[in-house]
Amino acid sequence: MSIEWKDSYKTNIIEVDTQHQRLFTLMEELDSLYHAHKGSLIKNLSSIRKAVSELEQYTISHFLIEERIMEENNYPDLENHKLQHDKFTDKILEFKEKINNHTENDEATLDENLDHILKFLGTWLTNHIMIKDMDYKPYIKHVL
Ligand SMILES: [Fe+2]
Repeated sequence: MSIEWKDSYKTNIIEVDTQHQRLFTLMEELDSLYHAHKGSLIKNLSSIRKAVSELEQYTISHFLIEERIMEENNYPDLENHKLQHDKFTDKILEFKEKINNHTENDEATLDENLDHILKFLGTWLTNHIMIKDMDYKPYIKHVL
């Protein structure tokens, strides 16, 4: 599956678009690690863990900024949007735990987990941007 940023994902809110692009870059980095080390993922577990952690931390800080922007602009569906962010954050944390607690001898499970994470992340983020983020777009008049 290819994870790449497309111009159609633009909200035209520069701060948001820049962060979304960074999220795609972080996903691409994890995807490249996965494909480059298929068959020897266990050996590369520390760089995989690092990439997952970075993605998790960046996602959380991005969500907070996005929520602040929606709040400042009185976006009416903020609570619902936050709920989606929270569910996604839980999912990433769950994945992170799985990768962090991974035993040092099970290549097949690690492969399966990473494949699952990458598919889930890519699909979720694109859908979320195209549906939920596009929905707040007309409400945003200023970004501090
Ligand atoms: Fe969002």
